[in-house]
Amino acid sequence: MSDESDAPSLAHLYAERTRRGDGGIDYGAWRELVTPETVNLTYGFPFPDSFPNAELLDAAETLFEEEPERALQYGGGDYADELAGIVAERSQDRGIDCHEGEVMLTNGATNGIDVVCRTFLDPGDAVFVEAPSFTWSLAVIRSHGVETVGIEVDDDGVDVEALEAELARRRREDLAMPKLFYTIPNFQNPTGVTLSLERRERLLDLASEYDFVVLEDDAYGELRFEGEDVPPLRSLDDTGRVIHLGTFSKTIAPGIRTGWAIAEAGVVEQLGALHTGGPNRFTMGLLAAYCRAGYLDAAVPELREAYRDRRDHLLSCLEQSMPAGVEWTEPAGGFFVWVELPAGLDAEAMLEGAIERGVVYLPGRLFYTTETGGQHCLRLSFSRASFEEIERGIAALGETVAARLAD
Ligand SMILES: Cc1ncc(COP(=O)(O)O)c(C=O)c1O
Repeated sequence: MSDESDAPSLAHLYAERTRRGDGGIDYGAWRELVTPETVNLTYGFPFPDSFPNAELLDAAETLFEEEPERALQYGGGDYADELAGIVAERSQDRGIDCHEGEVMLTNGATNGIDVVCRTFLDPGDAVFVEAPSFTWSLAVIRSHGVETVGIEVDDDGVDVEALEAELARRRREDLAMPKLFYTIPNFQNPTGVTLSLERRERLLDLASEYDFVVLEDDAYGELRFEGEDVPPLRSLDDTGRVIHLGTFSKTIAPGIRTGWAIAEAGVVEQLGALHTGGPNRFTMGLLAAYCRAGYLDAAVPELREAYRDRRDHLLSCLEQSMPAGVEWTEPAGGFFVWVELPAGLDAEAMLEGAIERGVVYLPGRLFYTTETGGQHCLRLSFSRASFEEIERGIAALGETVAARLAD
């Protein structure tokens, strides 16, 4: 249709969940103010030089040379078939005892969340999430018409005592019990914190006691900068109730749109039944050729180092530029730092002034499912901006906070 203004509205035909806006995100008017000159510390995008263009080209050549008639055919070739096994091998290295029949490939972790929700949830079901948690995941979960209940996060990840208290309260008051708990245990988005081993074990005990699925989103698990890995929830679980999600978005490229879910074979089969648009077989073949050439194993240590340097730079800029009373997390991996402003400052109300000074961040409110959560908090991403931009952006943020405090 050439003239959009003449297009008939189809809004009256939208599904109820679409009309409720459950799957959307209300960012606020500030997005209109951002210009190409604004230092952008909002989204968790990998930095452009991290993309392995030459290596992917080489993998594509391998694929076309070795499987010229099948690389692009329905079903793909042997490389495409190999990818689930490669994911299983790599997951075993991280302590998850699994085989390829327990791996379902997805169009990224987000698609994995959607398929799990479609498989387990009915409208009106209760889902527990971390508070705060990743905006997009929350939007996907809420698009299923469920009630989301946020459980507070502190420096050791989700507060399992608060979780236990809420579970007990709901049981006592005969409220809907959660079917699913969605957690990002490593270098959480948005706080950067990691769930301690003790809390992981307690979470699994509670999941057994109250009978819910634990959806473990491990998007950043391979990007640890220092210290020991904490075992994935899936590796600690002997009841089969953890579904583990991973993605190549952060270690290869988001444009690849490929991730995975690891669960019991029967659950994988059930997930597969609803998973009508799985990843394309050509991309799967390409990724398998890329991994078999050793490119991913070589890239991960380099990525860890590069993101660690960025984190260090951001933290030292915060140290230099933030007025007293501002606090922030120091993540041991991943892409994000969570900043808490002195009580009374509103990070969203402050955003326009920050953009005028040349920096944009995401206000804390976006990471909560309640109206009032995270008002004095904000998320900074150190994954994409250059060192110079980080310096300039944090200086602008410091000036903005100082000006607000002086008001
Ligand atoms: C916790 C978390 N899960 C999932 C995703 C998205 O993963 P994918 O690109 O594989 O859908 C992100 C990306 O920002 C994330 O931070």
